[in-house]
Amino acid sequence: MEFWEAGFVKGFMRMANDGWEQGWHERNGGNLSYRVKSEEVDEVRKYLEPREWQPIGTSVPGLAGEYFLVTGSGKFFRNVITCPAESICMIELDDKGENYRIVWGMKDGGRPTSELPSHLMNHEVKKNKTDGRYRVIYHAHTTNVIALTFVLPLEDQVFTRELWEMATECPVVFPEGIGVVPWMVPGGREIAVETSRLMEKYDLAIWAHHGMFAAGEDFDLTFGLMHTAEKSAEILVKVLSMQQTKAQTIQPDQFRELAKDFKVTLPEKFLYEK
Ligand code: 13P
Ligand code: ZN
Repeated sequence: MEFWEAGFVKGFMRMANDGWEQGWHERNGGNLSYRVKSEEVDEVRKYLEPREWQPIGTSVPGLAGEYFLVTGSGKFFRNVITCPAESICMIELDDKGENYRIVWGMKDGGRPTSELPSHLMNHEVKKNKTDGRYRVIYHAHTTNVIALTFVLPLEDQVFTRELWEMATECPVVFPEGIGVVPWMVPGGREIAVETSRLMEKYDLAIWAHHGMFAAGEDFDLTFGLMHTAEKSAEILVKVLSMQQTKAQTIQPDQFRELAKDFKVTLPEKFLYEK
């Protein structure tokens, strides 16, 4: 068996390729990380060769000692499925959650994604909030969501409500809503702090004029969440392209009915009168 034949690596590669096929990963756009289970680390332990410790650029004590599979900085999602050893890596965090070292991958050199601080800070929040259930953080350059950040007010309430209205499944798939980070310089601790704050409340965070972050339990749920929100954004872009105002839409009371039948809680702050 090769490293990339382990089930969790195959799942990671398939998800990266699915995102590529959706058109969300031009060039090196986007990044993906998975918090590896201890039994999965054991499965591939014989392939691991630890390199030098490097600073993460932030502190994630809640993830001390954990292993992650991550895409490489500057690497293309398009190549993950054909050249995993060059495009992705497995990293281990130290006992303080301040440094990482590559233990597999980046065969031709390089480092984990420049968004590692955002990925790890989001993982730390989600691990805490879900008793360790959430394991995937995904950043994609979702075309239609990005387009909407040029025309809608950059407010959680507005993006949540507008995306909920565009597809009946949306309030069921992301009942907590979506957060919005205003435009910020990517790749550092500052944007990571803002994003992880939103991840306390939501599973989705939009980066204005840039893309989206999704968090979830596994590859299917996290990809599905990104896909659902982006599809809804695509419908809204089409609607707004046809006319400025909707002739009809789903009303607040109809969302309340839906919430009852589907047994989800929809925060009232998103069900405002327009
Ligand atoms: P990386 O190639 O460093 O992952 O960066 C891509 C990206 O989308 C930055 O936000
Ligand atoms: Zn990006």
